[in-house]
Amino acid sequence: MAHVLKVRIGRIEKDVEWRTHSSSVEMTERLGEVLGAKVQSGDVITLDGDLGAGKTAFTRGVARGMQLRSRVTSPTFTIVNEYNDTQGVPRLFHFDTYRLTGSDDFYDAGLDEYFQRDGVCMIEWSKVIEDALPKDRIEFEISGFGSEREILIRFAEQDVSRMDEVRAVMEQEGMKFEDTGL
Ligand SMILES: Nc1ncnc2c1ncn2[C@@H]1O[C@H](COP(=O)(O)OP(=O)(O)O)[C@@H](O)[C@H]1O
Ligand SMILES: [Mg+2]
Repeated sequence: MAHVLKVRIGRIEKDVEWRTHSSSVEMTERLGEVLGAKVQSGDVITLDGDLGAGKTAFTRGVARGMQLRSRVTSPTFTIVNEYNDTQGVPRLFHFDTYRLTGSDDFYDAGLDEYFQRDGVCMIEWSKVIEDALPKDRIEFEISGFGSEREILIRFAEQDVSRMDEVRAVMEQEGMKFEDTGL
């Protein structure tokens, strides 16, 4: 029997949405770090929110949780930065699509090939390329000002158990979560 590889593109099939708050850059990074310990190759994690929301800070935490040692910097000008593990194997692909005009730009540059690679993709400003995103993804939306941030987290049924683990660790550390009842 022939196998057909289907990549589902478009809006996420949202099963769950949580709302939480961060009151410091350390807290946002810590949430990323705890998530980083649970990520798997093939994961696509999107990060949306204004300039200075904390998307790169969050990614820095994820890299730490994945035990990647290089310091994460913004890929604004390079579009994508790759981070290797201690063996030199690429594990994290960190995108900032702010400078792209849309999905066509993303496809033209062959960047969608990263979704098939062995590693985790994190995408800042993912709304710019929403049409090109796989449906199976974990979404983070960060907003706020000063040092207060509201963080909305959306994901599908299949990710509930590991996201529950992330939430449990963060709740132990005092972070509060609400189910928004999507
Ligand atoms: N609660 C918070 N979470 C994340 N960043 C915060 C928070 N409070 C203040 N900040 C500051 O906001 C900025 C976030 O920058 P950055 O992560 O580069 O944002 P983005 O990648 O979304 O443009 C940093 O200077 C950080 O210190
Ligand atoms: Mg950034």
